[in-house]
Formats: sequence, C-alpha cells, structure tokens
Amino acid sequence: MAADRDRYLEKYAFPFCAKQADKYEKVAKIGQGTFGEVFKARSRTDPKKIVALKRVLMENEKEGFPITALREIRILQQLNHENIVNLIEICRTYNRNKTTFYLVFDFCEHDLAGLLSNVSVKFTLSEIKKVMQQIFEGLYYIHYNKILHRDMKAANILITKRGILKLADFGLARAFSIKKDHKANRYTNRVVTLWYRPPELLLGERHYGPPVDMWGAGCVMAEMWTRSPIMQGNTEQHQLTLIGHFCGAMNEEVWPGVSKLDLFRKLEMPKDESRRRVKERLRPYVKDQLACDLIDKLLILDPSKRLDADSALNHDLLWSDPMPCSLEKMLANHHQSMFEYNAPTRRGARGGMVGGSLRASTQNQNQQHQQQQHQQPQQLNKTITNDGYVDRVF
Ligand SMILES: Nc1ncnc2c1ncn2[C@@H]1O[C@H](COP(=O)(O)OP(=O)(O)OP(=O)(O)O)[C@@H](O)[C@H]1O
Ligand SMILES: [Mg+2]
Repeated sequence: MAADRDRYLEKYAFPFCAKQADKYEKVAKIGQGTFGEVFKARSRTDPKKIVALKRVLMENEKEGFPITALREIRILQQLNHENIVNLIEICRTYNRNKTTFYLVFDFCEHDLAGLLSNVSVKFTLSEIKKVMQQIFEGLYYIHYNKILHRDMKAANILITKRGILKLADFGLARAFSIKKDHKANRYTNRVVTLWYRPPELLLGERHYGPPVDMWGAGCVMAEMWTRSPIMQGNTEQHQLTLIGHFCGAMNEEVWPGVSKLDLFRKLEMPKDESRRRVKERLRPYVKDQLACDLIDKLLILDPSKRLDADSALNHDLLWSDPMPCSLEKMLANHHQSMFEYNAPTRRGARGGMVGGSLRASTQNQNQQHQQQQHQQPQQLNKTITNDGYVDRVF
C-alpha cells in the first residue's frame, strides 16, 4: 500500500501544488506539533516574504493524503478574517523518492505561549484587553461560520509584530450543526489539550458546541495574569478534580442534566460542598474586577450558561477605561521571535493555580507537560534573518 502510494505521488504532476524547493527556503524550525514540524521560511522569488511551513505527516498514512490534514485545509480555505491565520497555499518537496506536503501560512512573529513564558514581556491591562478582544473576534467569526476550533491554548494563538492576533492550528477543528430534529450529534470528546478541556468533554458529552472553545478562552485569559496554565491535570480524573476545586461542585443545581452525562457516575465527582472559588483564587493575580468577572463567566461549568463570543465582546471590560490598545508599541521593544517551542520554561517546571497560589510543579505534572509538548529536544536556534528577527532560546 505504502509503496503504491509513493509510486503514485512520484508520478503525479500536482499542477496546483508548487515544489517548495523552488519556492521557499527554510530559515529555522519554530514548532513541533503532533502532526509535524513547523518552519520559518523565506520566499525565493520575493525575499521580503516570510512564511511558516507546516509539514504534513505522512509516515503513518496507508490511504494517501491524511484526512486530518484535508479537514484542516478545507476549514482554513473557508475562513477569511483578520484574527484567523491565513493559509496561502499547499506546496511539496520531492527528496530521496519521498514527497512531502506543506501548508504555507503567513508568518507571525510570536505565539502567546512564547510571549507569556518570557518574563520581560509585560502586558498592560489595555494590552490584555486587546488580546482578549481579538480572541473573541476570531471565535465569534468561526462560531458564526459553524466551525469549532477544539484546541484553544496559548501555543495556538499567534501574534504578529504589529500586534495582530491570529487563531491558528485548525488540526482538530470541525464543522458543527444545530440539529432541528433534536437528535444529538455524536462528536468525539477526545479533543482539546487536557489543561484547557471543559468539564462537559471530561464528562463524556458528545453533543457539544461553541462553549468548548469559550472555556479554553477563559483559561487563556486567566493565564494572561498567572503566566502559566491555571489547571494542570495529569489525567482526565485529575483535571476534573482541579476544575471542581476551582469552579465548585458539578450537580443538577448548578448544571441541569449533568448527572445524565456518560461519565458522571464513572468518574469521582468533586464533593457537593466544593464551593466556587474562581474570583477568590484569581484576585491575587487579577486586580481588575471586571476582568475577574469576565473570566468567571467564561469558566461557568454549565456550557449552556457559559458566555458566548458575542456576549464576551460586549462585556463591560472591553468598553471601560483603560480601553483596549494596540500591542505594537510593546512588541517593538522585543527583537526576538517568541514561540512555545523555544521556551523551555513552558515545557518544564511550571506551576498551576492548584491550591490557591502558584506552586512548583510536581514531577508528574512535568511529565504530563512534556508528554503534551511531545518531548521536544531542547534545541538552540539562533538565526538572524533579513527581517531583523532573531530566533532564539530564552
Ligand atoms: N503561521 C505561523 N507563524 C508563526 N508560527 C507558527 C505559525 N503556525 C504555527 N506556528 C508555530 O508552530 C507551532 C505548531 O503549529 P500548529 O499548532 O499549527 O501545529 P500542530 O502540529 O497542530 O501543533 P500541536 O499538535 O502542538 O498543537 C505553533 O504553536 C506556533 O508556535
Ligand atoms: Mg498547535
């Protein structure tokens, strides 16, 4: 099968899919994800044009081009918005009898995980508001277009040096429908990186929707102050327990219908006495009351009561002084690209908000984090490129 596929790929001309060797020159590796590596590259025809190349992993494929990559491409082709990463084209290389495909994106200088792990990057309240406003604009647009992202996390949020934020990594995204005949959808619930996974997915819900992304947005928003993921579970059970400690008990009173979810009786549920402590726990970090209130409303257990993107955009936080302001000036102080891949601190000893304050990670948490980051080798990239940016480890 694999040999047949290789023979087919070798002979086929792919008229709409340029050979990358002719078109782009790799500059540095900037990411290592589940589905392949990401490189910064420069166009050979227009050296001012910098792109990101995301390699399509073909190794385990028996049936040609991977369906997951096709889904990502299909969805990205459908989306066109300032706050969504722009897919330019698909291209390929042919080396040692092997064809490799790449998704070519407009390049963004940073990802939010990289920025948050660099202590010298300081966000003002206005700048945090601008980050959140752009996340909600992007989510509003995709949800309006019936797309769920399903992998919200800081590493999947890109920011250009001009301060424009782009939601990226649609590798887990899918279209959703609202069924008129009241029949439930049966989507997989094994989506969203564990630390950002909402309680309905942990409890086995398969008929979910946009609120799964809003929970992730709430986790990311809190992280703008805590600077590391707020709930770092080791297992699905542990994640649910951490959510219970933070957001209180999950019962019919606060969340009608929760006891009917598949895993409600199979997992150990947080005790009924568990109080909701979101605002109390966040107060040491998040001094602004409106900001605390918005995070609280994004981290509502019952997905039907969780704030949607439209209401988040209308929240008083984004319409009160200090108003959201551009990130461009702050980012101009930093001359290095910052990515999660280049940030060892995010892959290693980080604390969560478990227990009320930031604390050192346990070894387990480290292991989990490393698993989540796919055990990347700590590689030192230091390449000065024409656009004046230095890719490096800090
Ligand atoms: N257009 C881009 N510009 C700059 N950096 C990018 C771009 N696209 C991706 N990256 C970097 O590469 C990393 C991995 O990309 P992406 O999340 O799309 O891949 P993935 O394989 O699905 O990753 P994972 O499975 O870890 O979520 C991102 O976290 C980001 O740091
Ligand atoms: Mg990713």
